[in-house]
Amino acid sequence: MTNNKQLKVLFVTPELVPFVKVGGVADVSSALPKMLAELGCEVRVVVPKYGAVDNRKFKIHDVVRLKDIPITIGDKDYTFSLKSSFLPSPKVRVQIYFLDNELYFGSRKSIYGDALSGEDYPDNDMRFAFFSHAIFELIEKLGWQPDIIHCNDWQTGLVPAYFKALKKRNPASETIKILYTIHNFSNQGIFGKGTLKGLGLPDSMINENGILHGNKVNYMKAGIQFADFVNTVSPGYAKEVMANKVISSGLDELLKKKKKKFAGLINGIDESDWNPKTDKFIPKRYVLKSIDEKLENKKALIERFDLEGDLNEPVIGIISRLTEEKGIDLFVDSFDKLAKMKVKFVVLGAGQKIYHTKLEKLHKQYPHKLGLLLGFDNELAHLIEAGADMLLMPSKYEPCGLNQMYSLVYGTIPIVRKTGGLADTVSQFDSAKGTGNGFVFEKYTAGDMIKSITSAMKIFEDKGTWNKIIANGMQSDFSWKSSARGYVELYQNILNQ
Ligand code: GLC
Repeated sequence: MTNNKQLKVLFVTPELVPFVKVGGVADVSSALPKMLAELGCEVRVVVPKYGAVDNRKFKIHDVVRLKDIPITIGDKDYTFSLKSSFLPSPKVRVQIYFLDNELYFGSRKSIYGDALSGEDYPDNDMRFAFFSHAIFELIEKLGWQPDIIHCNDWQTGLVPAYFKALKKRNPASETIKILYTIHNFSNQGIFGKGTLKGLGLPDSMINENGILHGNKVNYMKAGIQFADFVNTVSPGYAKEVMANKVISSGLDELLKKKKKKFAGLINGIDESDWNPKTDKFIPKRYVLKSIDEKLENKKALIERFDLEGDLNEPVIGIISRLTEEKGIDLFVDSFDKLAKMKVKFVVLGAGQKIYHTKLEKLHKQYPHKLGLLLGFDNELAHLIEAGADMLLMPSKYEPCGLNQMYSLVYGTIPIVRKTGGLADTVSQFDSAKGTGNGFVFEKYTAGDMIKSITSAMKIFEDKGTWNKIIANGMQSDFSWKSSARGYVELYQNILNQ
C-alpha cells in the first residue's frame, strides 16, 4: 500500500448505520469508511435523506451552499439539497452527505416500501435513478473530486452508467474510477421497460450489453457493465455466483465473462460497535477469561421474552431478514419438532409478510419457547448476541453474513448452512482435534438443520468442550482492518488500470 494519504473515496450507499438500516449493507457502509479513514484515505459517504432519518437526534444540518441544486433527468426537472453530518466515531471524522429530495425520500416513512402492506414503492426505479444521477451533479457542485466512487447494491447501479453518459458535461469527472460492490444478487433492481423513459440514458446503453437483461431493465446489470471493477462480499459467494444461475439470479454468464474484473472480498465487523468487552447495550460486559459472566446476559434475554425452562437449557438466537433466502422457511416449518427439544428460541427481524404471519402464529402457540420481535432493534440485537448460547443461520444463500461473525466474537456459537460467506467464516467443530468454531450443515433441509442443532446441544452439555469452541471463535480476528486494506489495494489497482 503506497501513498494512500491522498486517496479520495466517495462511498455511495442506500443504507447507513446508525441512521437507517434494512440489511447488512448499512453496517458495512459505516464500518468500512471508518476503517478506510483510519488507514489514511479521505472518505465521504452519501446516502438518501429518508423521512425516517431523524435530523435532531443525529445533528444533521443543511449545507447552505448546496441547496436546491437543479437536475434534469430525461425531460424532467428536479432539485436536491444536501445535508451534512458525521459518522459517530471517537477516532476519525467521516463526512456524511444526506441527499435530500422531498418527493422521493423526505416524504417516505420507510426505505423501500410500505411497511404495512410489504409492497415496494411503485417509483423505486425513479427514486434510485434520481439518487444515482444526482451523484454526478454532486461532484460537479462539491468542489471536491474523489479518485474513486465506491457504489453499493442495485440502488446505486446506475451511477457508472450516468458517469459514462454525462462525462462530456464535466470532463474532469473522466478520471474518476468506479468500484461497484454487490452485497446480494437476489435484489437487482429489475423493472419493466416502461422505466426506460424516465432514465434519460442514451440509446447506446439500452440493449442486452447495457442495462437490459432478458428484455427487462436491470440496474445491477448496468452497474456490472459500466463500473471499472465489481466485487462481492466473500470469496465463497463470488465463486458461487459465477457458477450458479439461481444464486446469481441469472447474472452468472455475465460475471464469468467479466471475471478479470470481479472479485470476492470478505466483510469485517466494526469492533467499536460489536465487542462484548465494551458493548454499551448489554447488562454485563465480558471477555473470554470472564466468559461465565455471559450468563447474566442470558438471564436478561430470558426475562425479556419470558422464556421457560432452566438456565442450563440452551437459548438459540436468530437475527435476520425474514426471507426465504435466509432459510426462515426451514425454521418455521420445523418448529413443531424444535419445540419438543430442550431449547428455546429468540427471533429478531423483519421481512416477507408470510414469515411474519407464521412466526406470530408460532409465538402464540409457544409463547415461552419462542421469543419474537418483528422489526429492527439494534439494542436487542446486541442482547441476543451476548445472551444466546447459539445463533442459527440456516441460509439458502449468504453473500457474507455479519451476525455469525458478531456471534463468534461474543462466544455465541453459530450453527450455519455451508454457503457463501458462512462457509468462509464458520468451520465445523472437530472434537478430536479441538478445531472449528461452530456447527455447519450442508444440505438445505430441515432434517440436516435439526441434526446440526442436536449435535450442538449435545456438546453444549459438556462445558469444557463448549468453552473450547467459544475460545476458538472469540480468538479469531474479524476486524475490518485486513479487509479495508484489501479495498485500498483494490482502489489502487483500479486507478492503475
Ligand atoms: C447483504 C447480504 C449479507 C451481507 C451484507 C453486507 O445483507 O445478504 O450476507 O453480509 O449484505 O455485505
